[in-house]
Amino acid sequence: MEKEQKDQSGNFQLKADLEGNYLLNKGHKAEKNIGIFYAPSGGSVHKVARLIKQKLAGEQPDIFVISEITPFKLLDYRNLILVCSTLGRNTWEMEQKDPWSSFIPQMLRLRLEGRRVAIAGLGDHVSYPNNFVDGMGILAQTVEEIGGKLIGATETRDYVFNDSRALKEGRFIGLPLDEDYESDKTEGRIEQWLEKIRPEMSIELEEKRNRL
Ligand SMILES: Cc1cc2nc3c(=O)[nH]c(=O)nc-3n(C[C@H](O)[C@H](O)[C@H](O)COP(=O)(O)O)c2cc1C
Repeated sequence: MEKEQKDQSGNFQLKADLEGNYLLNKGHKAEKNIGIFYAPSGGSVHKVARLIKQKLAGEQPDIFVISEITPFKLLDYRNLILVCSTLGRNTWEMEQKDPWSSFIPQMLRLRLEGRRVAIAGLGDHVSYPNNFVDGMGILAQTVEEIGGKLIGATETRDYVFNDSRALKEGRFIGLPLDEDYESDKTEGRIEQWLEKIRPEMSIELEEKRNRL
């Protein structure tokens, strides 16, 4: 039997299905504009997440390291920017090493309809050319499974690699960054990417476009 639940803040209603999975009631409104969610903390991902926040200062985004929140926090935002790395295929299955590997199964209990999601993924194109930014692809697959709308695809022409799980229809599903071998390109890549996704993150602009 399904039952209605509230989270700790009492902000929204959840339902538990027969297996005890908590699902967001469709009526929950995302009240805030941009949330940046990243992991792990203390390395290149952390640095990039802070840089993205700095570049978006005008929009006053909130920023969270995912090891300190539950995935329900994602539901508060209309626009999500997720920042991850790739630490080898196995680590996505071995929960201790990368906080995203335990966060992703919890995300599968949510619905992200109506939210736009942009992903920045760190990798190393020299040491891992066959699995370049794979983690970004795995995260993107999860986002799509739970109804989020991916934005911020990037052309591959600026990157040298052999293969990646983050490719869809010939483009990266988000923004690849390589702090190990191309750190000089990071800031420019982020600026260009944000220029592209900024209009998409603006509900007001989209509503105006729809009215025309
Ligand atoms: C054990 C290990 C495995 C990695 N595997 C990959 C990989 O499969 N693909 C890739 O593009 N980068 C891979 N990388 C590179 C990292 O994603 C990259 O160094 C990233 O910037 C690390 O971010 P962090 O400092 O926040 O942990 C790997 C790094 C390590 C240490």
